[in-house]
Amino acid sequence: MKTQAIKWVGGTNGFLEAIDQTRLPQRLVMIKIRNVKTLIDAIKTLAVRGAPAIGVAAAYGLVLAIQKTGNAKNTLALLRKQARKIASSRPTAVNLSWAVSRVQQKAQALVSKNPQAAVKDLKAVILNEAHKIHRQDVAMCRQIGRNGEKFIKNGAGILTHCNAGLLATAGDGTALSVIYEAKKRGKKFRVYADETRPLLQGSRLTAWELQNAEIDTTVICDNMAGALMRQGKISMVITGADRIAANGDSANKIGTYSLSVLAKAHKIPFYIAAPSSTFDLKIKNGSLITIEERPADEVAKICGKRITPKGVKIENPAFDITPAQNITAIITERGVIKNPNARKIKNIFRTRK
Ligand code: MRU
Repeated sequence: MKTQAIKWVGGTNGFLEAIDQTRLPQRLVMIKIRNVKTLIDAIKTLAVRGAPAIGVAAAYGLVLAIQKTGNAKNTLALLRKQARKIASSRPTAVNLSWAVSRVQQKAQALVSKNPQAAVKDLKAVILNEAHKIHRQDVAMCRQIGRNGEKFIKNGAGILTHCNAGLLATAGDGTALSVIYEAKKRGKKFRVYADETRPLLQGSRLTAWELQNAEIDTTVICDNMAGALMRQGKISMVITGADRIAANGDSANKIGTYSLSVLAKAHKIPFYIAAPSSTFDLKIKNGSLITIEERPADEVAKICGKRITPKGVKIENPAFDITPAQNITAIITERGVIKNPNARKIKNIFRTRK
């Protein structure tokens, strides 16, 4: 059976089941998330991670948030409070607040239409919207794959960073969906997975899922990318994104910006693959995107073992911004935006989908 990073089990009294990504690649362990606190812990510790996946999980989180309430009056207030908590569990990926506000709007609309709405109807509306977000994510991933596979040529050497695959979404991923689609169409290529320090999403997660999919995969340390490009082993770079500003500047896992600079220097195309839920058109450019700063120990230790002297200063920004001018194209489910800029992005969002 196909691996699913997250799934809702049952009806409005159900729970969220997710792969604990902190345990991979050693063990494939599922966690059952039955309340908002466990969900927030899972998101903060990166047991559930990747922008689209945390968006979908957050939507289901609102079902958990009101499961125990029997009073329709208090439900919206409770929902608002828990929504705020869930949305602020990680600051960079916009999918989180996007999903949470979508679900809240549905609940609000029901109550505005029918102030006497029963709690059970409210719960049903919320679960229904969460399922819809889930299904849409699956569909968006599939379409991103179809829209992007043409950029993979036979014999390509593809470099990817972090994990933008099925573990990071409810579907087949964004950057990796493009790769899966190219394989489905019989193309031959090799993928280089950056290990992605500090938390090793590339070597632990991307390598795990690509190996399961029988895709020719080679793990490299982050600092090897330039040398490999110089040797002609890399013909394209493709990554996901956590938030894309109105002008195309894109936040993604720390290290993505350096790759974009290297790609430009070596005249290698650099692609971002992301669904519409990752665009934040309210934000003018990348400098306005909040970058999550994570605990110092993630840098100071590897697999629990200290690798720095105690007390040394450490920085640990989890994301960086790749300026639009370093991006050859952004691949979305709505189409491909070549040499992205504010005008082209506005255009692609003009048509309602
Ligand atoms: O800190 P993480 O592991 O959640 O960071 C994830 C990334 O940076 C991904 O590239 C991004 O969310 C896109 S996933 C389709």
